[in-house]
Amino acid sequence: MSGYLVEDPRKVTTHRLIEMKRMGKKIAMLTSYDYTTAKIVDAAGVDVILVGDSASNVMAGNVTTLPITLDQMIYHARSVCRGVKRALVVCDMPFGTYQVNATEGVRNAVRIMQETGCDALKLEGGVEILDTVRAILDAGIPVMGHLGLTPQSINKFGTYTVRAREEKEAEKLLSDARVLAEAGCFAFVLEKIPASLTQRVIAEVPVPIIGIGAGAADGQVLVIDDMLGKNNDFSPKFLRRYADLHGVMTDAIGRYVKDVKSCDFPNAGEQY
Ligand code: KIV
Repeated sequence: MSGYLVEDPRKVTTHRLIEMKRMGKKIAMLTSYDYTTAKIVDAAGVDVILVGDSASNVMAGNVTTLPITLDQMIYHARSVCRGVKRALVVCDMPFGTYQVNATEGVRNAVRIMQETGCDALKLEGGVEILDTVRAILDAGIPVMGHLGLTPQSINKFGTYTVRAREEKEAEKLLSDARVLAEAGCFAFVLEKIPASLTQRVIAEVPVPIIGIGAGAADGQVLVIDDMLGKNNDFSPKFLRRYADLHGVMTDAIGRYVKDVKSCDFPNAGEQY
């Protein structure tokens, strides 16, 4: 397989992620929402591809993740799965598809698995969603938890600032992670919490912990459009930019416009 740092070309499974944690190998996770990007991300050696409900912001221009629908997430996840050979593909269950009750949660989880070909699902929340998480796991579907800043609850939080700075909220997060790990979650995303709290979770919970704005962990996840610098309106402290795609694309598109308008494109060799 071509790519970077792909030490092990085998398909990544939930079991392999736990093995990676045990061996001290870090887990690289990135979001993707379409076939072409997912193909590149997979070949470049990313271990876990998240079809995040951040598609609502990044792909559709919504202010929050709340408006994206089950059908839209299925469309994105199916496109991503077609491009992936090695990475574990995790799909977010969108807002409203698992909060009502466990039966509805399982029905929607089964739909995503059947219609997309993804490997696992991610659900936001703690003990409040325990029954649903248990029911989805009982249906044979692997679940990744998501604690800390959970964007589907933004209207309850009222702000995107760092979560769990207070001990009471930190204790609740620790207890949620313990309970969900005991129920069988194979990994967690911890978003925007103090790095010291992430270390407490890692000390207490035996499954891989993937951080975003949560300091050092068993792995890291970023939104691909942010880390590639496609969207330069968003600059949180935790974001490391690896490219300036906004600049590269603006320049390329500007040169194309110039060439069309000056009749330089197409030239004699670019026509039939
Ligand atoms: O939807 C998403 O992109 C996510 C990541 C921020 C972890 O949940």
